[in-house]
Amino acid sequence: MNSLAGKRIVLGVSGGIAAYKAVEICRRLVDAGAHVIPVLTKGATRFIGRTTFDALASEPVQMSLFDEDDPIPHTTLGQTADCVLVAPATARVIGAYAAGISSDLLTATLIATRAPVVICPAMHTEMWEHPAVIDNIATLVERGVHIVGPESGRLAGGDEGAGRLSSPADIVAAVGRALDAGGQLADMAGLSVVVTAGGTREPIDPVRYIGNRSSGKQGYAFAEEAASRGAKVTIVTTVERPDLAGATVVKVDTAQEMAAATAKAAKEADVVIMAAAVADFRPVDPAGVKLKKRDGVPAIELEPTPDILASLGASKPEGQTLVGFAAETCDVAGNAAAKLSGKGADYIVANDVTAENAGFAYDTNEVLVLASDGRTHPVGLRSKRQVAQAVLDMVVADRTSRADTQENK
Ligand code: PMT
Repeated sequence: MNSLAGKRIVLGVSGGIAAYKAVEICRRLVDAGAHVIPVLTKGATRFIGRTTFDALASEPVQMSLFDEDDPIPHTTLGQTADCVLVAPATARVIGAYAAGISSDLLTATLIATRAPVVICPAMHTEMWEHPAVIDNIATLVERGVHIVGPESGRLAGGDEGAGRLSSPADIVAAVGRALDAGGQLADMAGLSVVVTAGGTREPIDPVRYIGNRSSGKQGYAFAEEAASRGAKVTIVTTVERPDLAGATVVKVDTAQEMAAATAKAAKEADVVIMAAAVADFRPVDPAGVKLKKRDGVPAIELEPTPDILASLGASKPEGQTLVGFAAETCDVAGNAAAKLSGKGADYIVANDVTAENAGFAYDTNEVLVLASDGRTHPVGLRSKRQVAQAVLDMVVADRTSRADTQENK
């Protein structure tokens, strides 16, 4: 369905070197039948002329909050837009939007609109990974703003790294998805999603257990993101976190309990996300009473726990998407690739749990997504919610293209 035809898209362009790509984005939107109104910041005009957009867009460029013909241009733009797209979005525009500072026509329009907003960041890696930008993006994601990219690749000045504007084709597709879903970005409506979260606890005696440092944040971020996109969510968790409106929460402790609960929930699930830190070993014979020091140092014999991911992979129903994780401390890509093929998963989300601000208990994470068809997708240091968004973007896009291929057979 061409969701762009006849739609009014405000195309915001801010002052980054990638502003030249906004011209192609404009052309693609117009070619798809959208009505494009360009809104440039002053900084953008240092990189790209108004004339270029005047020639391509459906209306002339607007820049000023003070317009002879319309005393409230930002409100008019915001109220009549079907979508507000900002590409590229600089750190300044992202920060102003997150803080509600309307210092120019573009930021005022962002705050005035109730239409879906798609933000496409582009900046140098150091800026993209600055805590302030990470927090601002996390704020916007929490408010339902859809963030597209950035990618990793060549940057201005010959540097390489995260911060490169996504491709015009991906950006235009994301706007289409936002509009397809009636603006609610509910591109997972009708899907049943099972997520596991937290670290399992394997009893030594009634008081002690073998555990790990998983807080459950990454699992809950997936559950929140999937729910915000319309999915029916079941979370199998060892930790209690703030209530997840509308989700089914199944509390477990041990790997065995998680295995049983996940197997049951996964039978009907469209997507399963194994973000939990499941113990690989457990005591063979946990004591029924608290072990006493006076009895000396106990020798604890261990045995393997059920490999939940492997059994899900072995019994994966047709059409189900299985996302495993890999918590690594070295050779992240190599170890993750081994898990991908060994467990029968469609994706492995690999994270180096010794990396700064990534892995256990942090609010941020940095992952490498490996797909079973060989694609890899690095997601630089981001909030765990944004990591979840990036992975689910990939899952939704792949499921949609698979469905389209089936349909056209
Ligand atoms: O919870 P946080 O504090 O936010 O931390 C997030 C995280 C670091 C826990 C998360 O990002 C993560 O890496 N989760 C997977 C941790 C883990 O158990 O990784 P693994 O490489 O040991 O296991 C690989 C995969 O097999 C995982 O999907 C795991 O859920 C699964 N597994 C592991 C053992 C087992 N017996 N059964 C399993 O299903």
